[in-house]
Amino acid sequence: MARRKLSKLIRSRACSTVLREDLKLTGAKEGCGEGECGACAVLIDGEVVNSCLVPVAQLSAADIITVEGIAATSYGQRLQKEFVECGGAQCGICTPGMIVAAANLLQRSPKPSEDDLRNGLSGNLCRCTGYTRIFEAILAASQASSGGAK
Ligand code: FES
Ligand code: FES
Repeated sequence: MARRKLSKLIRSRACSTVLREDLKLTGAKEGCGEGECGACAVLIDGEVVNSCLVPVAQLSAADIITVEGIAATSYGQRLQKEFVECGGAQCGICTPGMIVAAANLLQRSPKPSEDDLRNGLSGNLCRCTGYTRIFEAILAASQASSGGAK
């Protein structure tokens, strides 16, 4: 009985908690813990998802890509470089979620419009940059890419 309760408890833990505490993938940040800020964003089956809202029990067959996985790609490295060069990362709390959302956006829209940028990052809050520098970083990364996200 205790084992069953423990198992249920483990399966009800948020994906963000398991990523950070069990798997030591600390890129996804814990911000609000309520699905409001996007700091914990990861890609789940190709969609940007706030991992603080998803119990791991729902993910047994899911394809999860964290910011660490994105950072290992050439387009992830371009995004990181442009975030630094454009001043799109200041305190850095929002940055991993922004990179995840930006990577997803560039895969869908390799040359995003301003509306694409606003819509693509609508779930990600930043208290530091005013967003302009983040948009500039994503546009610079898109221009540095000749063939979209690879
Ligand atoms: S920590 Fe998940 S949305 Fe804010
Ligand atoms: S860089 Fe500080 S919240 Fe975005």
